[in-house]
Amino acid sequence: MQKMTVGDIEVEDKRVLVRVDFNVPLNEKTGAITDDSRIQATLPTIRYLVKKGAKVILCSHLGRPEGRVVAGLRLTAVGRRLSQILAKPVATTADCIGPEVKKAVEKLASGDILLLENVRFHVEEEENDPSFAQELAKLADIYVNDAFGAAHRCHASIVGVAKYLPAVAGLLLEKEIKGLGSILGKPARPFAALLGGAKVSDKVGMVENIMDKVDLILIGGGMAATFLKAKGYETGLSLVETDRLGTANELMEKAAHNGVRLLLPLDAVVADEIGAAVKVKVVPVEKIPPDFRIVDIGPRTIDTFSRELKGCKTVFWNGPLGIYEIARFATGTQAMAKLLAYLTSTTIIGGGSTAEVVTEMELADKMTFVSTGGGASLRFLSGKILPGVEVLIDKEV
Ligand code: 3PG
Repeated sequence: MQKMTVGDIEVEDKRVLVRVDFNVPLNEKTGAITDDSRIQATLPTIRYLVKKGAKVILCSHLGRPEGRVVAGLRLTAVGRRLSQILAKPVATTADCIGPEVKKAVEKLASGDILLLENVRFHVEEEENDPSFAQELAKLADIYVNDAFGAAHRCHASIVGVAKYLPAVAGLLLEKEIKGLGSILGKPARPFAALLGGAKVSDKVGMVENIMDKVDLILIGGGMAATFLKAKGYETGLSLVETDRLGTANELMEKAAHNGVRLLLPLDAVVADEIGAAVKVKVVPVEKIPPDFRIVDIGPRTIDTFSRELKGCKTVFWNGPLGIYEIARFATGTQAMAKLLAYLTSTTIIGGGSTAEVVTEMELADKMTFVSTGGGASLRFLSGKILPGVEVLIDKEV
C-alpha cells in the first residue's frame, strides 16, 4: 500500500484516535449484536496498539441516527462485546467530544482502551464540519483509519480529522486494500465475477472497471430482472430499474466487445408474493408469468453457474442471488456460498449482505478474503480512491 500504516509510526504512550467501523447488525427487537465480524476484524490493530503501549481511543458510527441521540444506537453493547473478546476493560463515554470525554482520555494509561459514543449523534459528523473534526482531533496525538467499511464517506471522523493529526492506515484497512486490490491487479485467470443484489446502478462502475480483467460475469439476484427486461423478456412483477435498461444493454455490449461471457439466469424461482404463504414455482426465464416475480435463481442456473465457477481460478462474489432473508428463496445464494467455500481457487467476497451470508453459514474462513465493506468495496473496485484513504500520509518510497 502506498500509505503509511500504524507499523510505520511511533505510538508508545501516544493518544491514538482509531476510526473503526463498528456499524454491526443488531437484532431489531433485542438490540443484541447479530454478527460481530466487524469488531473481530479490527482486533489486529487494537491489539497491536495495546501491545505497543498506545492509549487507544476508538470512535465509530452505528446506524444512521442523523445527528440525534438514539438510545438503540449507543455503542455500549459494542464496548461490552469488545471487552469480552479482548478479556480487558473497555471504557465507554456518553458522547464523542466534550469535557467528559476529555477527562476520560486524560485518565488513560498506556495500553488502555476507550470507546467514544456514536459519532453520528452529531450532525456535524456527516457534514464533515471542521470544528467538530478539530474537537475529535484534540483528543489525540495520532489518527489511525481502520474503518474500511466507511472509508468512502467524506465525514469528519474519516476525512476531516486527518487535517489536524498525523494520519495513517490501520491493519484492517491495509488488508482490505490488498485483498480487494488483488482483483484490480493481475488476478489468476479465468476470473469470474458473480453478481447479485437488488440494483444494477450500484454495480455499474465496478463492472466497467473490471471488464478488462474478467473472463466471465454471472448475474443473478434482483438486478437480473433488469438485464432480462433489457433483453426483451417479460419479468412479471419483478422490480426492474426501468431507468437502467440502457445501462444493462451497454454492459452486455461492452462485455461482448471485450470477449467477456456475461451469463444471465436460465430459469428462476418465482412467487406471487414475497410473504410466507405464497404460490412458488420454477420457470424458464422466457416464461415468467405476469402475476409472479423472480425471488431466486432456479436449479438449472445453479448447475450452470456452478459448472462455470468450478473452472475459474479467481472468483469475486458480490450480492445475494435471491431474497435470501426468506429461507425458501435462499437456495441459490446458499448453493453459491457452499460452492465457493470448497473451491481451491481464490475467492473474494464483497462486504455487506454477501459477507453476512457467508458468516451466517460459517463459511467465511473457507474464503480467501471477505471484505468488511459494502458500499466501500464497490467504490474501491470501481477504481475510485476512497476519501478516507486519500487523506492518509503517503509512504516514502
Ligand atoms: C456500512 O455499513 O456499509 C458502513 O458502515 C457505512 O455505513 P453508511 O452506509 O451508513 O455510511
